[in-house]
Amino acid sequence: MIQTNYLIIGSGIAGLTFAIKIADKFPGKKITIVTKSSEDESNTKYAQGGIAVVQNQLDDNFKKHIDDTLICGDGLCDKQVVKMVITEGPKRLVELINWGANFDLNDKGNFDLGREGGHSKNRIVHHKDQTGYEIERAILVQAHKKKNIEIFDFHFALELITEKNHCYGAYVLSEKTNDIIPFQSDFTLLATGGIGQVYGHTTNPTVATGDGIAMANRAKAKIKDMEFIQFHPTALYDKKLSSAFLISEAVRGFGAYLRTKKGNRFMLNYDERGDLASRDVISQSIEIELKKSSDECVFLDCTHLDMSAFIKHFPMIYARCKAVGIDLEKDWIPVIPAQHYLCGGISVNTNGQTSIENLLACGECSQTGLHGANRLASNSLLEALVYSERIYNFLANATFENNSPKIKIVEWKTNKSKPISQEYISKIKPELLLLMQQKVSIVRNDYNLSHARTQLEIWKKECDEIQKRHIINKDFYELKNMIDVAILIVTQSMDRMENRGSFVKNKKLNSSYSNQTS
Ligand code: FAD
Ligand code: SIN
Repeated sequence: MIQTNYLIIGSGIAGLTFAIKIADKFPGKKITIVTKSSEDESNTKYAQGGIAVVQNQLDDNFKKHIDDTLICGDGLCDKQVVKMVITEGPKRLVELINWGANFDLNDKGNFDLGREGGHSKNRIVHHKDQTGYEIERAILVQAHKKKNIEIFDFHFALELITEKNHCYGAYVLSEKTNDIIPFQSDFTLLATGGIGQVYGHTTNPTVATGDGIAMANRAKAKIKDMEFIQFHPTALYDKKLSSAFLISEAVRGFGAYLRTKKGNRFMLNYDERGDLASRDVISQSIEIELKKSSDECVFLDCTHLDMSAFIKHFPMIYARCKAVGIDLEKDWIPVIPAQHYLCGGISVNTNGQTSIENLLACGECSQTGLHGANRLASNSLLEALVYSERIYNFLANATFENNSPKIKIVEWKTNKSKPISQEYISKIKPELLLLMQQKVSIVRNDYNLSHARTQLEIWKKECDEIQKRHIINKDFYELKNMIDVAILIVTQSMDRMENRGSFVKNKKLNSSYSNQTS
């Protein structure tokens, strides 16, 4: 058993920024981070566009950013949360800079502010098209400077240890030794990121399997808004169902146009904001265009742009396109919507507290009320920064009664000897991705959802039976978590009666027609 004061599950922007702050505040306390892959692997590392932060210069102000967020959230944002997050943004950005993160400046020495869909002003602070990589680099350097932070990489959190609605830590599988170790903690923070891998086609890396949400759900924490899955309109088109390379929305903010295969600029037919409408509108419009034309993808046209300025701003995107044979001066980029972000998750209050005592959640795995039915671009890194500060303040200033366990933490039961068959995992996983892609995608209907739920419940039962008889491993647990997350998405989609933001359910379809529509 490992004992710690603060157990943090996940080493993206949410987990690391909290760790740095609490480590500084309490040099005598133990801060333990477990992370299932290498310490830098996370959605954070791949963030491109940047962080939306009002600079209160030129003609932008907090009110405009608040209004853009509320419009994008389609009436379901928590207004108080929106105001709090946006107004605290500038202070959190200064902190990141003080920790060593570099952001691009213009000729006048001010931030070079990018633009993305749904924003009425240029307000995206960025580091070329690799903002997340730069942030993750800087905060990892800071975390390593703290003597009281210990990072356990390749350690996979399996289950929370809870009793009577109180969290005492987590059971963690060490991929280095194959041991399952109870980590007992005073406070546990879930910072496990997104769920993209539940869909075949996603911009998220392979670590994004929704583990924290599945764990919290099994521990009976409140989970909300799982039906609001954000599909990014412009993932680089690839026939394979796998992680997709993102073409940042900032490319459209820089002036690129969306076109059909025939060359039509279609977005103004759907929204007066045209190519810079919010993501839900653009992805849904592309879906309609593709159904109309039977084309496989639409295109992003950069041919009219100043290419040397483009390369300076988007070196990674330029290089990736070149590597797959796309010459941006002549060719359009083939793009298609792909799962990108989960607006819902583990429900938290403004201190990041979940419905389970001493269990907190931060970042993409949490549901704060900021995003409503659809997240405004580049508000996610901002949310993680603001909430990790909120959680830090709450835990640093509150007085707590002695939290030493009132329960005896038992070892994980390991009386089985048979390893799990990789064959089962390799068979079910692609079927799950296809099911979600075909039946629980941008446009849903109750017939497909109900079919998906029946199949998911069958797999869930099979997994429960397998677990009773076998020694579990990380791949199996990820599959189990993905099935649990898929059930949450499907069930909450069935429960939602009204279309909002990123959620579209076609009620009129009858069963024979609906089956063809995903
Ligand atoms: P993550 O950064 O995903 O970190 C989660 C961590 O938890 C990882 O370390 C992971 O390994 C670990 N973990 C997960 N499960 C377990 C487990 N069972 N046990 C142990 N560890 C576990 N947002 C913006 O605001 N601006 C952008 O420009 C932007 N661009 C994006 C581009 C891409 C390609 C993607 C995928 C996302 C982008 N986003 C952007 C969204 C944003 O990056 C994420 O929402 C945000 O980084 C999430 O941070 P996080 O700390 O919550 O989770
Ligand atoms: C992008 O760069 O298009 C992604 C931004 C985001 O997800 O907020």
